Amino acid sequence: MNTSSMLTDEIHEYWTGVANTFQWNKKWDSLQSGNFTDVNVEWFKGARLNITENCLDRHLEKRRHKKALIFEPNNPNEEAKFFTYGELHLSVCRFANLLKKKGVKKGDIVCFYMGMTPELMMGILACARLGAVHTVVFGGFSPTSLRGRLEDSKAKVIVTHDGSFRGDKIVPLKSMVDEAIESLNSVETVLVVKRTLNEIFMKPGRDFYYEAAIKDCELHCPATVVEAEDPLFILYTSGSTGKPKGLVHTTAGYMVHVGNSFKDVFQIKENDVFWCTADIGWITGHSYLTYGPLLNGSTTVMFEGIPNHPTPSRFWEVVEKHKVSHLYTAPTAIRSLEKFGAAIPDSFSMKSLKVLGSVGEPINEEAWQWYHKHVGKEKCPIVDTWWQTETGGILISPIAGLTKLKPGHATLPLKGVVPVLVDEKGVELTTLVASGNLCIKYPWPSLARTIFGDHERFKQTYFSTYKGLYFTGDGARRDEDGYFRITGRVDDVINVSGHRIGTAEVEEAINEHPLITESAVVGFPHEIKGQGLYAFVTCNDESLTPEVLEKQIRSTVEKVIGPIAKPDVIQIVHSLPKTRSGKIMRRILRKIVENDLANIGDISTLLNPECVDDIIKGKKS
Ligand code: WTA
Repeated sequence: MNTSSMLTDEIHEYWTGVANTFQWNKKWDSLQSGNFTDVNVEWFKGARLNITENCLDRHLEKRRHKKALIFEPNNPNEEAKFFTYGELHLSVCRFANLLKKKGVKKGDIVCFYMGMTPELMMGILACARLGAVHTVVFGGFSPTSLRGRLEDSKAKVIVTHDGSFRGDKIVPLKSMVDEAIESLNSVETVLVVKRTLNEIFMKPGRDFYYEAAIKDCELHCPATVVEAEDPLFILYTSGSTGKPKGLVHTTAGYMVHVGNSFKDVFQIKENDVFWCTADIGWITGHSYLTYGPLLNGSTTVMFEGIPNHPTPSRFWEVVEKHKVSHLYTAPTAIRSLEKFGAAIPDSFSMKSLKVLGSVGEPINEEAWQWYHKHVGKEKCPIVDTWWQTETGGILISPIAGLTKLKPGHATLPLKGVVPVLVDEKGVELTTLVASGNLCIKYPWPSLARTIFGDHERFKQTYFSTYKGLYFTGDGARRDEDGYFRITGRVDDVINVSGHRIGTAEVEEAINEHPLITESAVVGFPHEIKGQGLYAFVTCNDESLTPEVLEKQIRSTVEKVIGPIAKPDVIQIVHSLPKTRSGKIMRRILRKIVENDLANIGDISTLLNPECVDDIIKGKKS
């Protein structure tokens, strides 16, 4: 037996053991098949199951009266809501019966465009109950973005709110849906959950109030048994090129890895209370607010609001109020609270806290230390968890309380995960200390299987750069302890406040402004957001003042994508640096905004080298 097949055997043995802890209607015929060369990975083929039986039904005997979900509203004066496993089970079944009544069957796609309320969690689980596929679109995306995702997924049903609360604002979700689906024939039904009670338009025959429609739905709904590789959900994410990609996650592999990684990484115990602050519109909210905790019979906290509303004490109040033992948040949230001073968290004992987690972007040393000292009171390990929408669950992370920590390091791969670093040519770097592009060498169960409707793009994006490897798009360094430190994206994806934004998408949005000829967007270091968006634009019409033009560009981007993609800085330039073949040299622009002029490289081969000086002179700090 050679080393690589030994490795494979060990990995298979590991996943078999893990998978055996779940509930199956029928176990698998083949544990894993396919590979990264043919891009046809499958896990647990032949197995049959329903993930909601694993999340809910199987806990009923022991945990019927245990809290499954704690809902903390945006407004601290509104009462929190609690759902036991028994109650959540009934609510999900009833919601599933409602979807069934609206014609949803196994394999159908249901879109959720909602604020963070319990109905969002119940709704996606209701889909899973029926073997339907959920696709959640973050409620901060614009109607144009929503429309793009609906055109791609062809969802028949949308579940939304009249509006959602965000700090002191109301986001008018239903009217945004109306705008998004105008003359879009694929959408047959819009279910509206009441939340903000703002006035809305209801189209007869298409739009229904959830509260009225669910009244006479039965509380009993048998789980639809699905195949291991049947899709569980589609989640759209940005890449370096083109439109957002609908990544498809399948049922069994996702369940096994997400359930297991939640338990392992966070070292969850029976009476723990887990609070993941992510929105369910992102993968973190899918995997570690919803599925991970529920698969383990844990108590999960869902927060409707934002960290600094109504005051920057809000997070710490929620921790104390609900006796949170595990807090899982993004560095950007930590940095945004850090700026209000340590005295605020210092005035809370937060003695329930045991473990802190970080996700979504590299955590800088200062934020790590602040989190450790003022939130964790120097007694809580911080798990810096590295993963992606594509990976479904955490792949590299310390194990809470067990792995020796190093600030800013995601440390070691989870069991069964084989990361490698490669150089530009794809040659594996075999020395212990190395820096390179982060790839994964061997399939793990919760890898996305495809891009909805475009398997070729899936192959191209993740498996063509380095033959036989899954390429993450991230750069990383491995140190003398074998610890990984993720250094950030090496492609044209920018991580703004932990959200992935494709430069191409923002450029396309900017270019929709009629006066803009061309644009180039790059990331720059931003104190709170980690990275900010710096847009260079050319405009051959001087009828507007730069201030007005900038304002219009921002609102164009907000309209096309959403407020999260609005450029922080806009610089109007005469021309953009280009190669002789006309390609915009973003690398040069990146160096300029990073103030790294020494490494700008040779510009003499550019088509228009003279523009570089102009751009440097006009740079906005
Ligand atoms: C980045 C979020 C450094 C990374 C779960 C990755 C991180 C992208 C970390 C995925 C971390 C995520 N340290 N960088 N602990 N976690 N990232 O798909 O660049 O929204 O490729 O998934 O976030 O973002 P996504």
